[in-house]
Amino acid sequence: MSDRLNILVTGASGLVGAETTSRLVRAGHHVYGLVHNVGEIVANNGRRVSSAPWTAASARESGVVRLLRGDVTRPRFGLDSETWSSLSASLDRIVHCAAITDFGRPPEIYQQINVTGTVHALELAQENATPFVHVSTAYVCGNRDGVIAENELDVGQRFGNAYEESKMRAELIVRKAAADGLPATVVRPSVVTGTVRSGRVREFKNIYIVLKLLSKGLVSAIPGHFDACVDLVPVDHVAAVLTAATEDFDRARDLTLHAVGAPVRMRDVSDTFAEYPSFHVPRYLDPNTFTPDCLSRVEKKYYERVVSLYDNYFLRRQRFDSAIADRFVRRPSTAGSSYLRRLIDYALKAGYLGSTLPVADRALTPLKVGER
Ligand SMILES: NC(=O)c1ccc[n+]([C@@H]2O[C@H](COP(=O)([O-])OP(=O)(O)OC[C@H]3O[C@@H](n4cnc5c(N)ncnc54)[C@H](OP(=O)(O)O)[C@@H]3O)[C@@H](O)[C@H]2O)c1
Repeated sequence: MSDRLNILVTGASGLVGAETTSRLVRAGHHVYGLVHNVGEIVANNGRRVSSAPWTAASARESGVVRLLRGDVTRPRFGLDSETWSSLSASLDRIVHCAAITDFGRPPEIYQQINVTGTVHALELAQENATPFVHVSTAYVCGNRDGVIAENELDVGQRFGNAYEESKMRAELIVRKAAADGLPATVVRPSVVTGTVRSGRVREFKNIYIVLKLLSKGLVSAIPGHFDACVDLVPVDHVAAVLTAATEDFDRARDLTLHAVGAPVRMRDVSDTFAEYPSFHVPRYLDPNTFTPDCLSRVEKKYYERVVSLYDNYFLRRQRFDSAIADRFVRRPSTAGSSYLRRLIDYALKAGYLGSTLPVADRALTPLKVGER
């Protein structure tokens, strides 16, 4: 194992933050978690990571996360200056996960949490030149098509939403701090979903909500291209890349790592949905002619409130290169359609996408009266 490090994880209760915190704790590091509203760390497998409040005296402890409550939008995260100074003096690494990841919020919310929040996290790092691992998104590439390289950032792209734009602004600020001498590295996950082997995910949010609305036929048609693809990355792979960049920071310094997984084409979505008898298969309509008015009144409501926030992802033809990240942790080799099937199977098992139809033998066995 690498040397024990004192690591602060911001956004430690979030999907990515909690899984990364759990790994770093298991690896024997002294981990401090910055938490905000949710004050506990639950790993992706549903297990609570043992925690206790942070105090200057209690630092350097293994097996337990020391928690600080703070708000990244506030200077010094809203901590008193004594806590801020002793925290900064104790750190070997900062992993900055805290962000707002929901779509459809007002632009100023993304600015405050994702951009100003990063400025404040960098200020903590700059106190003692603490190596800074910044969590961005592969989708800082915006709407442009083709192969996206890890060393590309601002190439005049147009963004799909205010979230992506805010994450690019934050990355530019991290790059500027790095150019001024701060040791920093950037990790860019794509769309974070269930684990590579079982598809398990701690919570069903973002893309899962779209899968639910489409599979239930609550929105039957969307603007989309059969060959467009969305990259889905297993949460355990993202945590593995973040852990590697944190532990092996000297090698990761100044690099950008795509923590990406399997490109899932819209064709894979409709073909895979067709394998599930209880699922509706969405139709993809030409984006030039699609209008929400072609949907029923109920569908239109779901489309406008949820699916429209994501629908430009159904039009993009992007592939993420991960040659640099692969030097740390190899990208999962799973094919898009089989990974999607795993995610759906897990969501069905958990009851999120309804229930599986009985296997054929069971379905064909006659039931006695009163039996269910
Ligand atoms: N999930 C994805 O698909 C995805 C894809 C690409 C990149 N990323 C990036 O990965 C990182 C982690 O994302 P995630 O999926 O783990 O998000 P998440 O589950 O929504 O967690 C976000 C975390 O940030 C915290 N946070 C929000 N506002 C805060 C504030 N004002 N002060 C302090 N903490 C605050 C939240 O705490 P509370 O809940 O207690 O407020 C939560 O712990 C983010 O930087 C995100 O941009 C995520």
